[in-house]
Amino acid sequence: KLADYGISPTHGFLPEVLPLTRLPDPYYNKWEAVVANLQGLILTKRLRGVVDRLPVLSTIGLEHDAEWRRAYLLLTFMAHGYIWGGDSPSDRLPPPIAVPLLKVCERLEVPPVATYSSLCLWNFKPLFMDEGIDSLENLATLCTFTGALDESWFYLVSVAMEARGAPIVPLMLTAIAAARDNDVATVTACLHSFAERLDDLTTLMQRMHENCDPQIFYHRIRPFLAGSKNMAEAGLPNGVLYEDLSGKETYHQYAGGSNAQSSLIQFFDIVLGIEHRPTGEKANREQHDAERQGRAPPPKHNFIMEMRRYMPGPHARFLGDVQAVANIRDFVEQNQTNRSLCVAYDACLFMLSSLRDKHIAIVTRYIVLPSREVRARSRSRSPEATRARKVNLATASRSQPPQGIAYDARGAANAASKKGGDNLKGTGGTALMSFLKQARDETGEPAIEQW
Ligand code: HEM
Ligand code: ALA
Repeated sequence: KLADYGISPTHGFLPEVLPLTRLPDPYYNKWEAVVANLQGLILTKRLRGVVDRLPVLSTIGLEHDAEWRRAYLLLTFMAHGYIWGGDSPSDRLPPPIAVPLLKVCERLEVPPVATYSSLCLWNFKPLFMDEGIDSLENLATLCTFTGALDESWFYLVSVAMEARGAPIVPLMLTAIAAARDNDVATVTACLHSFAERLDDLTTLMQRMHENCDPQIFYHRIRPFLAGSKNMAEAGLPNGVLYEDLSGKETYHQYAGGSNAQSSLIQFFDIVLGIEHRPTGEKANREQHDAERQGRAPPPKHNFIMEMRRYMPGPHARFLGDVQAVANIRDFVEQNQTNRSLCVAYDACLFMLSSLRDKHIAIVTRYIVLPSREVRARSRSRSPEATRARKVNLATASRSQPPQGIAYDARGAANAASKKGGDNLKGTGGTALMSFLKQARDETGEPAIEQW
């Protein structure tokens, strides 16, 4: 049953009970007050001082799941504001955040870091209760680091996609059951609707451009989404120390928030029988060496699988269980002579691969191009360029970094680009372009017909 996995037949991976706009128990007013003023506290660099002085609250006043989710939202926004909201990143989270955060995460089965769940799934409200949440026109965020509309929009596009994609979950479970019953007509009809919905989702995703400006995204929003894994260049060589009062303080390293943590998109891959191989040069080299020497290849780093550990536990278990019964791809293969079935299946692959194509275009505009501009600017500050600049004032004025940023804009996001474009990393930690292109190409691989 879907409910056993915390999945709603109408809202999908978004909670059935709408996210709370505040915790009901006044005991938590101090957390609510900090988050209500989060942007101001970050802007004036007072967040760390305020958090350090907070009492260490217990989780005893949290009752329903919705309250635990609200607590996770509050604590992860405070945590990332704390880490990234200063002149340099903080490599420690003080007890007022670390202690309750670890408790909340244990209960919700999520990692103690901002994830797709805290940023998107549990961070929205409908503007009008009598209208659906699958329309961007009816959504608002509960919490942002910057207060920028661009940031809200960035999260809300994903929320709307989750809501619009939600009916695909029961739809494709029906298809799996129908394939088991050898019911070709039903499988075909389900695949047909799935393909149409996927097209809808792509249209929604492209609405990112309407209200999220790439410069604001890259310089102001993205730094807060960074994690603590492989972040030495950004100033966190060991990760982040969670100060838990017990004396057993340890450094933790987690990937930053990324839509790769969306269970919905992974569900699509699983039902369609798409396989994502490990990524990165190292994985390829190890595979190659092992094959040459006739050894079994070593266990490899599979980013998409790793991201399941950043989903709420029940959602990740759902994906595992669906994977165990996924049969559509085999069914289509066994019925290769049925043209409309094959066409419907291939259409789904094509639509999903086209969604990934459009996503790559977004990543180019929102990450690759802004990072190139930063590098061009830093080159233009080299001694030769300084000489050149004296004769070209126009260039000089363009070479100023954006001003008025209250945190380290050159931290997380830009550090990765210092050495050049090849080194660009996503907030999830992938070598983004090669990773995303591989994921797109793999989407087309199970196709029955070549296209
Ligand atoms: C992965 C950037 C919006 C879905 C990624 C990755 C990057 C990225 C860099 C690589 C993983 C990492 O290291 O973090 C962006 C940017 C966006 C954006 C800059 C908007 C400004 C979206 C939206 C969706 C989405 C709206 C909704 C479907 C995914 C998925 C992956 C991913 C599913 C995992 C790779 C895959 O399955 O193909 N994104 N993303 N992204 N993103 Fe986005
Ligand atoms: N994963 C997205 C990035 O790398 C948010 O910027």
